Amino acid sequence: MKGRFISFEGIDGAGKSTHLEWYAERLREAGRAVLLTREPGGTELAEALRALLLGEAMDARTELLLMFAARQDHLERRVRPALANGTWVVCDRFTDSTLAYQGSGRQGPTERIRDLADWIHPDLWPDRTYLFDLPAPEALRRRAQARPADRFEAEDVAFFERVRAGYQALARAEPNRFLVIDANESIDRIRLVLANDCASLR
Ligand code: ADP
Ligand code: TYD
Repeated sequence: MKGRFISFEGIDGAGKSTHLEWYAERLREAGRAVLLTREPGGTELAEALRALLLGEAMDARTELLLMFAARQDHLERRVRPALANGTWVVCDRFTDSTLAYQGSGRQGPTERIRDLADWIHPDLWPDRTYLFDLPAPEALRRRAQARPADRFEAEDVAFFERVRAGYQALARAEPNRFLVIDANESIDRIRLVLANDCASLR
């Protein structure tokens, strides 16, 4: 019995982290074994790459390749083994982040990103992706109150508007996989939407 693969996406500050633990707990209450993990990260090696990606200046190609290096390690050592033994994997970001940030945000080579995805995980995309959708200025306001900016969060509003538009296009292209969440709604309203959807996953 294979587990389900669920990802949370959205621009920084849209509200993903507010719901991740809560969502994993709903699945556990429903009797599932759950791995809550994140990208870039989720293994010792990938967490080391994450620290570099979020902290060190680098060119756009290095950034893109390190994202996939971290992803390969994470898939190989944690995600695939978990899914194979029936564990449900809830992942804070996945390849949609690469398409939105390195593709739309950085205006990078989308076709090469798709090629890398086809190479690293031809057989594996999330069964469900929650997209937290929020205008970039509001996400920036929320972040500014919550924490100091990392290398991505230091980008300007125009960058995050491109990332948001990139995500919206991905969601339009795959309406069965994506559930778009209006992140302007209250935390309680959003939890209602997540709980209903979570209950519908088999
Ligand atoms: P992300 O993980 O997407 O970067 P967070 O979950 O860390 O975002 O949320 C960023 C900030 O916005 C936090 O201070 C959080 O408390 C606040 N926040 C989250 N969801 C909402 C919401 N629905 N309405 C108002 N503020 C929110
Ligand atoms: P995140 O875990 O959401 O950061 P935080 O803990 O600060 O909320 O994501 C880390 C950053 O990495 C985020 O700014 C988006 C970026 N990122 C990419 O640019 N491409 C990717 O493929 C991934 C997975 C993340």
